[in-house]
Amino acid sequence: MRGDELYDDPVFLAGYRELRRDKRGLNDELEIPAMAALHPAVDGLRVVDLGCGEGDLAVRLAEGGAVEVLGVDASAAMLARAGAHPRVRYERADLADFDLSSASVDLVVSSLALHYVEDFGGLVGRVADWLVAGGWFVFSVEHPVVTAPLVEGPLDDYADEGPRQRTWFVDGVVKYHRTLGATLATLQQHGFSLHAVQEPLPTEAQVAAHPHLAIHRRRPPLLLVSAQVVR
Ligand SMILES: C[S@@+](CC[C@H](N)C(=O)[O-])C[C@H]1O[C@@H](n2cnc3c(N)ncnc32)[C@H](O)[C@@H]1O
Repeated sequence: MRGDELYDDPVFLAGYRELRRDKRGLNDELEIPAMAALHPAVDGLRVVDLGCGEGDLAVRLAEGGAVEVLGVDASAAMLARAGAHPRVRYERADLADFDLSSASVDLVVSSLALHYVEDFGGLVGRVADWLVAGGWFVFSVEHPVVTAPLVEGPLDDYADEGPRQRTWFVDGVVKYHRTLGATLATLQQHGFSLHAVQEPLPTEAQVAAHPHLAIHRRRPPLLLVSAQVVR
């Protein structure tokens, strides 16, 4: 099942919502704080959140002073529960072909959604076009050492980019593996200057408080990148 339909599958969604409610994922301890520390100050910025899900990041950015935030997601179920804020609006769309006007946005963010997108280069090219000169693209994805194995398991098949099938609440969840080098090179090819590349790990204290995080001290579960478009 591809990312654009996955989050409307009732079995998957029930599992995913339980994971988020019980805080058993990576979001609360790792991804959310890392993203918050990485994106620029949003006061006065026009922002787009790609794969916004239930809109938590979009609302936080509006509360942080963004003048407008557009949350984009393919899932009707996720958007139906998305948080309301006077400066946040949502659009249901597939990132495979979603588009905006040139130079209309100051910051594009995305949390844990872009590993569902097959044509990363096509999307990066459109993001570069939407951004004003000096605009920011800040995103997190599952780390390539996690997406790499063709059959879920220890690191293997790293150089073999392309789709991977995983069992995550349902069978056949499709994610796309890209090497770190290819991800960064794609950004540079589309006119981005890299600002930061991060691989956050849980601290020992976090593992003591949340033992399910232990495996993530052995290899990074997440990759975060911030880049600025230069032209
Ligand atoms: C792991 S969730 C993350 C949601 C949110 N960004 C967060 O951090 O809480 C991934 C989101 O990406 C969305 N998504 C996956 N593939 C997509 C696509 N092709 N187009 C639009 N949204 C997509 C899903 O519907 C889902 O809401």
